Amino acid sequence: MPPSYILVTFLFSLLISTSPSAATDTVTLARSLAAGDKLVSGNGKFALGFFQLNSTSNGPRWYLGIWFNTVPKLTPTWVANRANPLANSTTWQLAISSHDGNLVVTNRANNSMPPPWSSQQSFNHMADTFLPGAKMGWNKATGFTHGLVSNKNSIDISPGVYSATPSSDFANPGLFLLWNTSVVYWSAGLWNGEYFSNTPELTARALFTFDFVSNDHEEYFTYRLRNDTMVTRYVLDVSGQAKNMIWSSVTQDWVTFYAKPAAQCDVYSVCGAFTVCREDMLPFCNCMKGFSVRSAEDWELGDHTGGCIRNIPLNCNVTGSFYAIIDVRFPANAKHYMEAGNSDECKQACLNDCSCTAYSYNGSCNIWKDGLFNVAQQYNQSTGGGVLYLRLAAEVDASESSKHRRGLIIGVAVGASIFTLFLFTIVAMFVRRNKKNRSSVNTVKLCWIASRL
Ligand SMILES: *[C@@H]1O[C@H](CO)[C@@H](O)[C@H](O)[C@H]1NC(C)=O
Ligand SMILES: *[C@@H]1O[C@H](CO)[C@@H](O)[C@H](O)[C@H]1NC(C)=O
Ligand SMILES: *[C@@H]1O[C@H](CO)[C@@H](O)[C@H](O)[C@H]1NC(C)=O
Ligand SMILES: *[C@@H]1O[C@H](CO)[C@@H](O)[C@H](O)[C@H]1NC(C)=O
Ligand SMILES: *[C@@H]1O[C@H](CO)[C@@H](O)[C@H](O)[C@H]1NC(C)=O
Ligand SMILES: *[C@@H]1O[C@H](CO)[C@@H](O)[C@H](O)[C@H]1NC(C)=O
Ligand SMILES: *[C@@H]1O[C@H](CO)[C@@H](O)[C@H](O)[C@H]1NC(C)=O
Ligand SMILES: *[C@@H]1O[C@H](CO)[C@@H](O)[C@H](O)[C@H]1NC(C)=O
Repeated sequence: MPPSYILVTFLFSLLISTSPSAATDTVTLARSLAAGDKLVSGNGKFALGFFQLNSTSNGPRWYLGIWFNTVPKLTPTWVANRANPLANSTTWQLAISSHDGNLVVTNRANNSMPPPWSSQQSFNHMADTFLPGAKMGWNKATGFTHGLVSNKNSIDISPGVYSATPSSDFANPGLFLLWNTSVVYWSAGLWNGEYFSNTPELTARALFTFDFVSNDHEEYFTYRLRNDTMVTRYVLDVSGQAKNMIWSSVTQDWVTFYAKPAAQCDVYSVCGAFTVCREDMLPFCNCMKGFSVRSAEDWELGDHTGGCIRNIPLNCNVTGSFYAIIDVRFPANAKHYMEAGNSDECKQACLNDCSCTAYSYNGSCNIWKDGLFNVAQQYNQSTGGGVLYLRLAAEVDASESSKHRRGLIIGVAVGASIFTLFLFTIVAMFVRRNKKNRSSVNTVKLCWIASRL
């Protein structure tokens, strides 16, 4: 068998299918593969090749990857050079390296250009997609973990802020969703031999079978379709939710079968700093009062993690003001301030600290410094929430109230002119009538009232 055959077989089987049908999901790389060429897996479901995505700011970007061959909407499932796209596809090709037999992306026009990808370097990194038959787990010898990393936004497939990682605790297999590789915001729960306790959907509709495999070399989860004709994927979405999606030939789009966590606002810091997440509103991310979206472009592409920034910076020399946000889940990383025994003392503690951005008093004093993350609305005392006092510059209040005052003045002026017009109409009627009975006393009185307005 030529090395190319073995390598491509390996690529497809590792990333696509370990099922008995894997033997048919193979192709031979007889010659180098350039942009426009594709290799199709034996069952016709997947294609390997260079594909193009368009980004608004940087023009077209080229990637080497595998996508669903039967789905008209380009849906990559694995990408070799996710973080280093190629600006120009015309000179790049996928070939077999003559000195080590690896699959490698080389530049036809310039041999000394360093390869942006080689099968030796980053063969088994999954992107944001876990396909039926693939393995999510770790290699016991190398310690290498196969997990998922979300895309940055709806058009940029470079690594985003969310990841899915299998637990490395052999006794308690699990799967966790993490923000910034550090904060766990969802756990699949305990493995009961058939499914994870927080994901009964996996078997509920009899569409999948789920397996946990542990042997001397590796330990992993995998799943299979009960009916192989279904086109499906498990993807860690830009929104931070892990979604099981099924291709619908009726709507010609991916349909979400289930999402975890089910509530969008339960994804840690999904809206970034200084925002309030609201499950029942669209858009669900909103800036706190006195703040504006940091990057409108990212925001539109579904990446809210940049959050919001202050319209007017805090000036520590001036007292400033506080704005009450009711019924919220408190931000992460509260600092408990024991010395303050009531709400006023708590407020004072915040004012005394230049980096304090908010406080709340719910029987004890909590203050927050710097960014406020993970705030969501519709949480009251019984659901563990309360009132958050957001610190604002004094100017915010002044500019808000001057806006208010200006509004009031305009309102009064308009009202007054309508009233004046109304009075003049009445006066005119009186004048006409009084011209008939020759008495002008009432008319004079009314004219005087009107002139005072
Ligand atoms: C990117 O833009 C090119 C040229 O406008 C177009 O032909 C191509 O279909 C676009 N690709 C995607 C994935 O939108
Ligand atoms: C791509 O590279 C080819 C050959 O080097 C060059 O002729 C062409 O102008 C390049 N295209 C872009 C869009 O840079
Ligand atoms: C080929 O690539 C190398 C490394 O990037 C670069 O130093 C060299 O200038 C390139 N040669 C040409 C002819 O572009
Ligand atoms: C994410 O983690 C990195 C490294 O641990 C840290 O430098 C960065 O500040 C974190 N991002 C946020 C928004 O906290
Ligand atoms: C698989 O699904 C297809 C299309 O829905 C159906 O025609 C076929 O009978 C199913 N096969 C099995 C074994 O259930
Ligand atoms: C705050 O007051 C100090 C001392 O009076 C002064 O040096 C500083 O510039 C002031 N800062 C601001 C932001 O006004
Ligand atoms: C008050 O809020 C803090 C910060 O979120 C929380 O840790 C604490 O449990 C709350 N206390 C009560 C009595 O609700
Ligand atoms: C608190 O919120 C829950 C859930 O939204 C609601 O059922 C309950 O009535 C609320 N309690 C109060 C006191 O508002």
